[in-house]
Amino acid sequence: MSALPGKRILLGIGAGIAAYKSAHLARLLKQAGFEVRVVMTEGAQAFIAPLTLQALTGEAVRTSLLDPEAEAGMGHIELARWADRILIAPATADLMARLAHGQADDLLTTLCLASHAEKFMAPAMNQAMWSHPATARNARQLTEDGWHLLGPDSGDQACGDVGPGRMLEPEDIMAGLSGAVKRPAEGLKVVITAGPTREALDPVRYLSNHSSGKMGYALATAAVALGAVVHLISGPVALPTPSGVTRHDVESADDMLAAAERLADDCDLFIGCAAVADYRAEAPAEHKLKKRDDENAMTLRLVKNPDIIARIAARDARRPFVIGFAAETRDLERYGRDKLTRKQLDMVVANDVSRAGLGFGADDNAAVLLWRDGDAIDRDPQPPQPKSRLAEAILRRALTRLAPLHHA
Ligand code: PMT
Repeated sequence: MSALPGKRILLGIGAGIAAYKSAHLARLLKQAGFEVRVVMTEGAQAFIAPLTLQALTGEAVRTSLLDPEAEAGMGHIELARWADRILIAPATADLMARLAHGQADDLLTTLCLASHAEKFMAPAMNQAMWSHPATARNARQLTEDGWHLLGPDSGDQACGDVGPGRMLEPEDIMAGLSGAVKRPAEGLKVVITAGPTREALDPVRYLSNHSSGKMGYALATAAVALGAVVHLISGPVALPTPSGVTRHDVESADDMLAAAERLADDCDLFIGCAAVADYRAEAPAEHKLKKRDDENAMTLRLVKNPDIIARIAARDARRPFVIGFAAETRDLERYGRDKLTRKQLDMVVANDVSRAGLGFGADDNAAVLLWRDGDAIDRDPQPPQPKSRLAEAILRRALTRLAPLHHA
């Protein structure tokens, strides 16, 4: 565990019989070099005394949001900022429901809402409660919100039932924390297009655009980090290949289409982030075009390029889940929705490329994610943020839509 970045962990303890295991967990965290602060819900104190955790961590245990004495030390917002990670073990069905709904009705839920820390929870509850559609819905929501769910395990339960809902053993929770558990996109085959295409006019000139490749490369990096096998079809850009990614360099839309068709044959998720030129010269000149002194204008005849993403989405066989981008300068959502429907995509990332500091060439981006949910179109607006973070948000959102297909 010594390689773990971020050594400040807030251990939240919920009201379950598994709370007694949290004492051992606190000890393991300390042994792994974490600075541990403990927050207990009111109910948790019926299962294990705060004093036990205080003795194990050497820190006062926080139990109440409205404790003036504790707030005078490290206030709850300060505590929320202090944590690199939050781990809730055990996480009861009630705690999951409150967190899934963004409630802040006690110290632990308030801290979770106020903190940007990476968040983990080890659910623990009766098997029927775990299998209930409401808990399943909450678990999905929490995963979408970025929580890592560790477990639960299956087996004998304290109530006499047998089934899923047992809290993972503390050692397994530790393994989950260090990333030893299955990552959400483990084994998923992802193909991403990135950068611009270049459409030759003659041997030295071309039509292109300002795409730097940053957004597509950020997606490739994030997909690898989530465990996916990633092929990146890249137009000409000045970026290094992200580690773990197989890169296929192309120039024109036709080249990109050929690579996309080939790689899509063995692909679960296809993301078209490239800024593909919509048109190319009908007949690129074999030799360099000469400037003519007797003419002030020149006419270039352009023909339409193939629509790569629409071709992939129109497949009958071997059709992956398809995410397209929509680069717009006005009516962002209207055009995004139109592309979702017209190109038969599963999701669209609509980004406004007229905003300074965002979109083409920038390190940051903002977008509205759009996807079909039955007859309706659902949306998830993403504020301006580094492309790396937006990339992860796009992938996590896609994974929630894709998971049933992937595991089928
Ligand atoms: O590369 P960066 O500098 O980081 O900038 C990122 C970006 C702005 C290029 C990126 O976020 C983005 O918006 N990419 C899509 C750009 C684009 O071509 O959008 P579009 O609205 O014209 O195309 C819609 C979708 O169809 C896109 O998924 C595109 O890849 C795809 N397409 C378009 C034309 C075509 N002939 N074939 C396609 O597959």
